[in-house]
Amino acid sequence: MKSQIKRVQGKALEEIAAAESVSALNEIRTRVFGRSGSFALLNRLLKETPEEERPLFGRLLGDLRRIVTTSLKRKESLLGKEGDQAVIGDLDLTLPGTASEYGAAHPLTCLLNHAVAILHRMGFSCATGPDIETEWRCFDALNTPNDHPARNEKNTFYLQDGRLLRTHTSTIQIRTMERQLPPVRVFGSGAAYRRDEVNATHLIQFHQLEGLYVSKDVTLADLKGAIVFFFRELFGQEAEIRFRPHFFPFTVPSYEIDVRATVVGDGWLELAGCGMIDPAVFEAVSTKRGDRAYSPEKVSGFAFGIGLERLTMALNGIADIRLLTENDIRFLSQFR
Ligand code: PHE
Repeated sequence: MKSQIKRVQGKALEEIAAAESVSALNEIRTRVFGRSGSFALLNRLLKETPEEERPLFGRLLGDLRRIVTTSLKRKESLLGKEGDQAVIGDLDLTLPGTASEYGAAHPLTCLLNHAVAILHRMGFSCATGPDIETEWRCFDALNTPNDHPARNEKNTFYLQDGRLLRTHTSTIQIRTMERQLPPVRVFGSGAAYRRDEVNATHLIQFHQLEGLYVSKDVTLADLKGAIVFFFRELFGQEAEIRFRPHFFPFTVPSYEIDVRATVVGDGWLELAGCGMIDPAVFEAVSTKRGDRAYSPEKVSGFAFGIGLERLTMALNGIADIRLLTENDIRFLSQFR
């Protein structure tokens, strides 16, 4: 028995010394320690040896297991290192590495993030709506008559099923009031679509940031205060804000907002539309909801919509709106 143990041990150590790969080592391991390997065989023999010899053989078997296992492990790590060395070869660690390129947010996104941070501080929360909308949400609910030019197929992208690509984000006002009870104080942003001739100042897809506040006793003073605060936070406290009377079907009175501030160049920049929610809009929402939560006798409110492209262009001195969508890395990398 003793010589058998020594033979198995000696053979295993020899084979390990000669092994040239990790898989060869694994084969040796199975041959010795596998279920029907030589170690298992010796263990079975041990049970048949006379009782007084068993402690000695038992110890020898234990030694065998320890010695062969250690040897396998040592050789394994050696082969691993040699393998690494072969892969690394004559790698020159003093060569400079390849620098990775950092991306950055699109200038439009930067502006939006800045504006949204201000609106959050003003207590507005985020509302959403899809780009594809019903005619009702885009026009009817917003008090826009059937013969309004915006409803014309020449100006708006209609889908075959009668839905359309929203022409403004004011659809989000309607969506919010449909599903939420007053008071509401939300902003929504996203793409809007119009069938314009594409040129240096027009795209068929652009972006707006919309705000809606509906509560009890909201007045024009609230609207003006909110707008002035918002734009001064955005452009600096010396920014001047001008409200020019205008017309939107869904607000009354309505205004266009012009801003004059050094960061957006000299002169007045027309940036946004706003106004007090027209009672007809509250009536449309009430009919749809089937309750009087938005009855114009109970609530009032204001809304505003800001075009983001023109503002981004003014803030960054961009002369052609098409640069914002062309994805030209030479243009975009200037905003890193
Ligand atoms: N939806 C209007 C537009 O696209 C802007 C607007 C929003 C005006 C909210 C008033 C209130 O021109």
